[in-house]
Amino acid sequence: MNNRCIQLIPTDGGDDDESVYYLQYPPEREEQQRVAAAAVERQLASWIGAGGSLLLPSGYQANLTLMVAIAGPGDVVVSDEDNHASLIDGLRLSRARVKIYRHGDAEHAAALLEQSRGARRVFCVTESIFSMGGDLAPLAALSEACLQHGAGLIVDEAHALGVVGPAGRGGFAASGAAPEPLVAPSGISSSSDSIRLTLPLSSMSSTRT
Ligand SMILES: Cc1ncc(COP(=O)(O)O)c(C=O)c1O
Repeated sequence: MNNRCIQLIPTDGGDDDESVYYLQYPPEREEQQRVAAAAVERQLASWIGAGGSLLLPSGYQANLTLMVAIAGPGDVVVSDEDNHASLIDGLRLSRARVKIYRHGDAEHAAALLEQSRGARRVFCVTESIFSMGGDLAPLAALSEACLQHGAGLIVDEAHALGVVGPAGRGGFAASGAAPEPLVAPSGISSSSDSIRLTLPLSSMSSTRT
């Protein structure tokens, strides 16, 4: 049994026909996977010049995890109307207030950020290369608007990482936007998706727990 990739474990500790079984990797295999994943996370972070990264099984899970982790009741998230369903679902689960801006319209996004002063925390979320149209988000203008309004910029690089930017580092790197505020990758999916989280230092300290 120990040589197998996956073990069948009886939930009640017994091994008769009545037992309900669950699947589990053997402990040594789990440890190998943890070490391998940590090594990949370090390499990814170093590649895109970030302090750290977190591997998740899919882009969908990465977006749900990210949104629920950083946004919550009392926060406002300004979101492009063409954002992927995983971002929309993540925002619903976060219970943050969502304000939708016209697709690719950085001025509209800036106006919504302006209207959101007083919220606990404010974020703007966009894809870098859009899955629906293949067009690029105005990342430099969005980044500037976020800096002006003390908001965090979240960029889903699902279709840009490894494709555009210096050394394939994605749409945000390609945009030439200032490396500040901090850039932190938050996930990479089964299909090489990644999510880049860009936060001003002030927001970063309050969301890094
Ligand atoms: C922009 C974007 N984000 C996230 C996802 C979800 O990624 P996954 O298919 O790995 O769950 C997709 C999938 O197409 C996507 O286009």
